[in-house]
Amino acid sequence: MDLDPRTLSARERYALLIQTIVPRPIAWVSTIGAQGALNLAPFSFFTGIAAEPMSVCFAPVNNRHGAEKDTLVNIRQTGEFVVNSVSEENAARMNETSAEYPHGVSEFEKAGLTPVPSAAVKPPRVKESPIQMECRLLQIVTLSSGPLGGHLVIGEVVHFHAAEPPWDGRAIGREKFKAVGRMGGAWYARTGDCFEMKRPEALR
Ligand SMILES: Cc1cc2nc3c(=O)[nH]c(=O)nc-3n(C[C@H](O)[C@H](O)[C@H](O)COP(=O)(O)O)c2cc1C
Repeated sequence: MDLDPRTLSARERYALLIQTIVPRPIAWVSTIGAQGALNLAPFSFFTGIAAEPMSVCFAPVNNRHGAEKDTLVNIRQTGEFVVNSVSEENAARMNETSAEYPHGVSEFEKAGLTPVPSAAVKPPRVKESPIQMECRLLQIVTLSSGPLGGHLVIGEVVHFHAAEPPWDGRAIGREKFKAVGRMGGAWYARTGDCFEMKRPEALR
């Protein structure tokens, strides 16, 4: 098969992206609205960018009517968010928070999760998540504001929390972390079947 993506509908393009870019890490993003309402939602168009400054990005995609996600609306208003980690223990509750509730409804309450105060930003962290990155907005890059159009939200990590375990005093232990990844459709991947490959020496 080979094709020009411009001949497909936006939904078909989205399906190809999420089936091809796998497994994707999941940012479980907590935000707070201008009126103080808490919000929590998962985003798997997510990655780290750099260590100077320590920075991450994720992409909230508009719904099929072109409406922006509450997470993006809140970040525009407050400039702050927290990326909470997703592992086997909290995956089911992460999934519950992806339901599209009306603006102002707290997914913390709906999924029975505990908000705990952050150190440097207003949005709370998720207690049931062992690693949390408090972020301050650096930039929003908008590619399209129409249906299924996307925005790249770039943030600086201004405070980092890790529970012990998976933090062992020196590193985050892969076996203890049990991170999960998002695949296409409704599929997820565990990270229990990893293999190691050392980087080659530079050629002389
Ligand atoms: C594992 C997972 C990953 C998701 N990744 C994304 C994503 O990268 N971008 C996006 O726009 N929506 C993504 N979604 C859907 C949002 O979580 C969903 O639209 C949510 O209701 C948005 O919440 P909000 O309007 O409170 O921000 C994902 C859902 C799940 C379950």
